[in-house]
Amino acid sequence: IPGQKVVLITGCSSGIGLRIAVMLAKDEQKRYHVIATMRDLKRKDKLVEAAGDAYGKTLSLAVLDVCSDESVKQCIDGIKDRHVDILINNAGIGLVGPLESIPIEEMKKVFETNFFGVIRMIKEVMPDMKKRRGGHIIVVSSVMGLQGVVFNDVYAASKFAMEGFCESLAVQLLNLSMIEPGPVHTEFEAKMIQDVRQKEYPGADPDTIHYFKNVYLPSSVDIFEVLGQTPDDIARCTKKVIEASSPRFRNMTNPWYTPIVALKYADETGGLSVHAFYHMLFNLGPLMHISMTANIDAHIGM
Ligand SMILES: NC(=O)c1ccc[n+]([C@@H]2O[C@H](COP(=O)([O-])OP(=O)(O)OC[C@H]3O[C@@H](n4cnc5c(N)ncnc54)[C@H](OP(=O)(O)O)[C@@H]3O)[C@@H](O)[C@H]2O)c1
Repeated sequence: IPGQKVVLITGCSSGIGLRIAVMLAKDEQKRYHVIATMRDLKRKDKLVEAAGDAYGKTLSLAVLDVCSDESVKQCIDGIKDRHVDILINNAGIGLVGPLESIPIEEMKKVFETNFFGVIRMIKEVMPDMKKRRGGHIIVVSSVMGLQGVVFNDVYAASKFAMEGFCESLAVQLLNLSMIEPGPVHTEFEAKMIQDVRQKEYPGADPDTIHYFKNVYLPSSVDIFEVLGQTPDDIARCTKKVIEASSPRFRNMTNPWYTPIVALKYADETGGLSVHAFYHMLFNLGPLMHISMTANIDAHIGM
């Protein structure tokens, strides 16, 4: 359809990518044609079901593994005139645990997906966007791309790397936007918890393992419960960024994290933000949990 923007999204089999794909495909004014991609089409059912009528109309599927040069090229070559108006880099993987127990190979996989995967996509579509002097690139980063979090060292590093890369590139490519969610209820969280149950953490000392399993993890679960957003919240925010007349570069989706990240820039020693973040992680999560429960109890009591 003329005037319709071609939107390519990576990692649409679940979570945030799936919801962005569905929300844009169901745009009332039908402004978007969504190419929802995933590395394995066997995982398409959830997306197809959620897309409903839009499937086959404003939403089509394609295979794309961000870790493969060939797959990326094939997918873009399969698009009419290789024309992509909006590229949404969403595919990503997490990694938590004591650093001592994580093999370098596993760390590389995180960078291969979260960092080189995005670069691979951008390299493939950027020349054409420059030629047309149009286009918008979105990168789903994370609050952890701005603030490191204990036991998420390598994941945070991969998102920091992305932030640095995009900040540099934004000068040439003016339409480049980062989305920085805090915790979001997706398979990401479930994968993390399942992963922790299976793993033994060889190489880490008992104190660190104890701290990780009995202090960090319960706090993290609490933080998700109390501050977690839905994938639809992130999709709404992304749609706003796409539709803004002059899109912002950084877009934090969760207002709870804005002051913490601001602290980092206000105090050049770095001490303030580190302490504030840890206070929130280890004290505020459980505390808010209690106060929220108390609130609910009070309401029920009324
Ligand atoms: N959930 C959070 O709390 C949170 C917070 C901040 C930022 N984020 C970011 O949000 C993005 C989406 O995550 P999510 O929360 O929606 O998690 P999710 O439900 O696990 O979705 C991740 C998606 O990425 C895909 N993917 C992984 N490796 C890929 C590859 N090599 N090629 C193509 N696709 C690949 C997965 O596909 P398969 O089904 O094939 O595995 C899946 O569709 C990630 O970049 C993540 O870092 C998440």
